[in-house]
Amino acid sequence: MFPTQGDILQQSDVTLPRFLNKIDPLSPHFMITNRGVWTSECFALCVMCDLFHIDDYIESGIYQGQSFFVMSEYLPKPCYGFDVTIQKNIKDRCSYFFDHGLIFEQDSFVGIPELLNDDLDQENSGIFIDGPKGWDALKLAQTVIDNDNVKFIGIHDSYWPVSNRDDHYEFRKHLEDNYYTWSTDDVNFVREYNYLDNARWIEYLEERGLGGILPYNKIKFLYDEDKYDSRLLKSYGPTITFIWRK
Ligand SMILES: C[S@@+](CC[C@H](N)C(=O)[O-])C[C@H]1O[C@@H](n2cnc3c(N)ncnc32)[C@H](O)[C@@H]1O
Repeated sequence: MFPTQGDILQQSDVTLPRFLNKIDPLSPHFMITNRGVWTSECFALCVMCDLFHIDDYIESGIYQGQSFFVMSEYLPKPCYGFDVTIQKNIKDRCSYFFDHGLIFEQDSFVGIPELLNDDLDQENSGIFIDGPKGWDALKLAQTVIDNDNVKFIGIHDSYWPVSNRDDHYEFRKHLEDNYYTWSTDDVNFVREYNYLDNARWIEYLEERGLGGILPYNKIKFLYDEDKYDSRLLKSYGPTITFIWRK
């Protein structure tokens, strides 16, 4: 039986205490990196990994490691990361991952199918694509979604391509017609868990004058809570859309 939206929200209740126990997004030690995913999005990844009993987490697009390191802290299982260019600070920080062959400086179109076909013994893999983006992310997803071991794929910035509404509509429609989908802009999910992105994230944006990007619906919640800031104008759109086989 495939999970439904209700299963995801129910699993979120179960995953939350485990997540907060390992990851404290409001702690001053919590790493925040530019262009990194939101904590609520990492939480959604953890929920999906729990729900699908994931043995191996695979990420495409590490950049400065926001999602990769949160996921490696949360999961007691191997996390494999790919990026065409591994940032120097990641190299300096993560000899463990390099020594254990868990981070690869490689194009995911080559590396992920190879990893799935040749190197993994375990049965359940979850994949998160945070680069490439748009149709290329979907192309990458399509190269591996039929692999029996792949239980879900999360596509970040799934509001892309943003060039025009028709293109966006086609993209969303393709996802929704061909797969089971669930997105982190689910209003119940946002209502319950948007606080995970509070405080330090907003300070971080403000300190660096980066106002302008917030998860979908967050502006409304900020507005409702009377914390509206005119620099925080843009919504982030449906952020991670998870797809799994019908
Ligand atoms: C937005 S950043 C990722 C942010 C990261 N997930 C985080 O939370 O901090 C996108 C990354 O995807 C990488 N990328 C783009 N196309 C790729 C591909 N085909 N294979 C592997 N990595 C790719 C880029 O080099 C870039 O570092």
